[in-house]
Amino acid sequence: MAIREILQVGDTRLREVSKSVAEEAIDLAATQGLIDDIIETMRHANGAGLAAPQIGARVRICAIEVGDNPRYPYKPKIPLTILINPTIEILEDEALVFQNFEGCLSVPDLRGQVPRHPHIRITALDRSGAKIDFVAKGITAGTFQHEVDHLDGKLFLDRVVDTTSLSTWDNF
Ligand code: NI
Repeated sequence: MAIREILQVGDTRLREVSKSVAEEAIDLAATQGLIDDIIETMRHANGAGLAAPQIGARVRICAIEVGDNPRYPYKPKIPLTILINPTIEILEDEALVFQNFEGCLSVPDLRGQVPRHPHIRITALDRSGAKIDFVAKGITAGTFQHEVDHLDGKLFLDRVVDTTSLSTWDNF
């Protein structure tokens, strides 16, 4: 396991669409080692999530975990979840969104309000290759949408509509 450098906004690797992971590649030491690095790097940076492209790996893998997080003291807790090749299904009217305050380890010291779907279904494979399928709501749903966006080369900044909501952590 290693703490890896987190790429910062402006690095074009954050803007690429990541590739799906072949099921037979999940057990490989390289894939499992990458997952360990994502977890360790996320925890070291007190992130609520981290996606493979943020450490320079262009594959569809991300981790989400919210415990007692000093960056996000208001977030509901989420146990460590590894998503491989995740898909998101919107369970309400597509037009129904709420404003989620987001930050990102690839965007230093800036937060903003992002319209997110409040009710989603997530399907993916876990790190053992087993299918996972669950529903997420509210702020937790926003966290999953943020991480899956990274796999498509999107940052939360792209989705901020009200730019007056942008704020440093101190001002937030
Ligand atoms: Ni992010």
